[in-house]
Amino acid sequence: MEASPDTPHIAMDTAGRMTAPSAARNIDAILAELTPRAPVKGAALEIASGTGQQVARFATALPGLHWQPSDIDTERLRSITAWSAEAPNIAAPLTLNVATDGWSDPLDPMDLIVTVNLLHLISDAAAESCLAGAAKTLSPRGLLAFYGPFLRNGLATSDGDAHFHAALRAANPETGYKDVAWVTERLSDAGLATPEFCAMPSNNLMIFARKG
Ligand SMILES: C[S@@+](CC[C@H](N)C(=O)[O-])C[C@H]1O[C@@H](n2cnc3c(N)ncnc32)[C@H](O)[C@@H]1O
Repeated sequence: MEASPDTPHIAMDTAGRMTAPSAARNIDAILAELTPRAPVKGAALEIASGTGQQVARFATALPGLHWQPSDIDTERLRSITAWSAEAPNIAAPLTLNVATDGWSDPLDPMDLIVTVNLLHLISDAAAESCLAGAAKTLSPRGLLAFYGPFLRNGLATSDGDAHFHAALRAANPETGYKDVAWVTERLSDAGLATPEFCAMPSNNLMIFARKG
């Protein structure tokens, strides 16, 4: 394994598969909550698949779903393609930028949409576009699942989270942790009322939402 050129903490093997320690750390906890709630069959979209190591696990754990991975970044897309060889139910990755107007318009309806560790890295406007586009693409009985760190009543839940949120804001004032109330409002605006908030390790949350 060698370090990936643009992100030293990400390793890359000879098959071109990147591995991020954070993605390896949280996947079991995510699958433990996602698997019992996910539809047994249908179409699943992963937004911001990153290295692709998680979609390989999702596709193996939920074999009745046909998985569509995606990302904005060309190098990640290559790694996702390499990881896709792990399971037969993973499509070639799509280039998707959730900050773009109409990003979800070309997509077929999805029965499950999963996003891990994206919302805090993008602006409020991009996060709103992500949530609205995902809600639009969700099939009538579909499930939306967002995992990541969030503020509660405007506050971070640990010193580490407060520092990370502040660092993100310092680098780009439009980014940073989103508040649970803000996400709830955006979901409600998009027709996804009464989301379920699931406590996860390291103060993270998994947010599940359905239409109606
Ligand atoms: C912290 S990584 C998370 C990757 C993966 N979900 C995981 O948890 O390992 C954030 C990912 O979001 C992608 N990303 C950033 N901005 C994006 C955007 N506007 N639209 C789609 N993906 C984006 C990045 O390329 C990166 O792969």
